[in-house]
Amino acid sequence: MKQTGGGEDAKRRAGESAADIPEGGDVVGLGTGSTAAHAVRELGERVDAGLDVRGIPTSFQSRELAREVGIPLTSLDETDPDVAIDGADEVAADGALIKGGGAAHAREKLVDSAAERFVVVADPTKESEQLSQPVPVEVLPDARVPVADAVRSAGGDPTLRAAERKDGPVVTDNGNLVLDCEFGMIGDPSGLARTLSATPGVVEHGLFVDLVDEVHVGTDDGVDVTR
Ligand code: 5RP
Repeated sequence: MKQTGGGEDAKRRAGESAADIPEGGDVVGLGTGSTAAHAVRELGERVDAGLDVRGIPTSFQSRELAREVGIPLTSLDETDPDVAIDGADEVAADGALIKGGGAAHAREKLVDSAAERFVVVADPTKESEQLSQPVPVEVLPDARVPVADAVRSAGGDPTLRAAERKDGPVVTDNGNLVLDCEFGMIGDPSGLARTLSATPGVVEHGLFVDLVDEVHVGTDDGVDVTR
């Protein structure tokens, strides 16, 4: 069952708590979304105060925010991150995640999985016993129909993600489309992840299994750190 107690203050507490982790000289994977943005802003303040870190953004949005708050940037061409700090749409009790609410999960998975330490920041509304949210699947534009058929064969119900403020679909930073795929309760996230990864035309899906090192959940008056 979903928890209550979300809100901007809980997200801010989680983000600021994770921003305590990077040390001087570290390279930090900069996640996407409103919770990760709190960590990026806090890191920006620390850079301002003299902390020597560089960031690897996971999206256009996080790159723009990092530039705005003054975090020097690098890329996976140069180095892997020491720490990645990223949000999630759902966090299961075993640490499996669903990501991609911001359609950035392909680059997020690239950066988060390359990091020595992957830290998730969330508010309590994201926590659940077992994953059950729709799984975002980024697909090549030409693969939308065959991937949707494959998702149905795997027991899912795909919906093309529509852009909120204009007619037409969401287009990712990589020029692709997103299918939000409802599977109900996901009893075997690893198996489903393998099935989706093996489907031609799938660029990346939002199931993050066995990747998380630490979860920081902001509460009404503090932060719970697990794993
Ligand atoms: C973007 C993501 C985000 O991390 C996820 O959607 C959580 O966002 P928020 O912190 O705004 O709730 O996966 O692709």
